[in-house]
Amino acid sequence: MIIFTRVQELQDHLNIVQDQQKTIGFVPTMGALHEGHLALVKISKKSNDITVCSIFVNPTQFNDPGDLEKYPRTLENDSKMLESVDCDIIFAPPVSEMYSAAELELKRQKVEDKDWTGGKTVDFGQLDKVMEGTQRPGHFNGVAQVVSKLFRIVKPNRAYFGQKDFQQLAIIRSMTQQLGLPVEITGCPIVRESDGLAMSSRNVRLTATERKVAPLIAKTLFSVKEMKEKHSIAELKTFAEAQITSEPLMQLEYFEIVDAETLQPVSNYKEAKSIVACIALKLGSVRLIDNVIL
Ligand code: PAJ
Repeated sequence: MIIFTRVQELQDHLNIVQDQQKTIGFVPTMGALHEGHLALVKISKKSNDITVCSIFVNPTQFNDPGDLEKYPRTLENDSKMLESVDCDIIFAPPVSEMYSAAELELKRQKVEDKDWTGGKTVDFGQLDKVMEGTQRPGHFNGVAQVVSKLFRIVKPNRAYFGQKDFQQLAIIRSMTQQLGLPVEITGCPIVRESDGLAMSSRNVRLTATERKVAPLIAKTLFSVKEMKEKHSIAELKTFAEAQITSEPLMQLEYFEIVDAETLQPVSNYKEAKSIVACIALKLGSVRLIDNVIL
């Protein structure tokens, strides 16, 4: 496994790989890795000659500077974990390799930078107007900005994203299509702890008491999935909201049942081919999201 921190050095290496007609699979992350991330690497390894995992805590997708600062940075342990699943390359650049001073200044001034599209118009339509989009202004613009930069640097054949961040996956598919980037996007199943809690880098910030009640999130989603045969969408929403609000440590941000493609809320099952229930809440000071395809 080789670790690169400079764009040029990574590209020099990958140029050789590409000249040999080898395929590149890419797993972008922000580090603080867990089994969910490793699952993406394992899936990539099955279909590609070389797998690259990036570790970069992207400043432009955080709207709360405190959250950015608190984000765990555990490169040494991450490297060991990636080594254990035979990842070929880690790309862990410093911020200065990814952003110019001008781009960072825009971020500091809280101006939404749209220059990353390379002159093209990228419009997410309603995709970024719902759920996470309403709770975290500018977040998806920052995600699309960094992922498009990473795609241009790594030039992967395929890239792997978790369904844990269902809306992010939809945004990245849309961005890739609108920019005409030659990358195949694959969505991968959510990896959970044995008690159902979706793995997340933020879980380590839960106190012991919070961690104990956290499985209620997945439990509620799984109940909703079971209930769908006999109950209306409105009833599922009422049930889920009641479950979460009954737990004093949880503060519900949203529970939505949406069309898996457009992410727009649906009011009956016939409105969409595939439907997904999405939830976001605060457990103590930790913000958690989860979802289940119904
Ligand atoms: P991060 O939160 O580190 O997640 C990296 C990838 O791991 C994402 O595709 C995410 O959906 C996936 N992932 C996280 N937890 C998972 C789980 N329990 N099961 C399956 N997959 C899981 O998402 C980001 O980083 C960033 O926004 C990024 C795309 C890297 C851009 O900065």
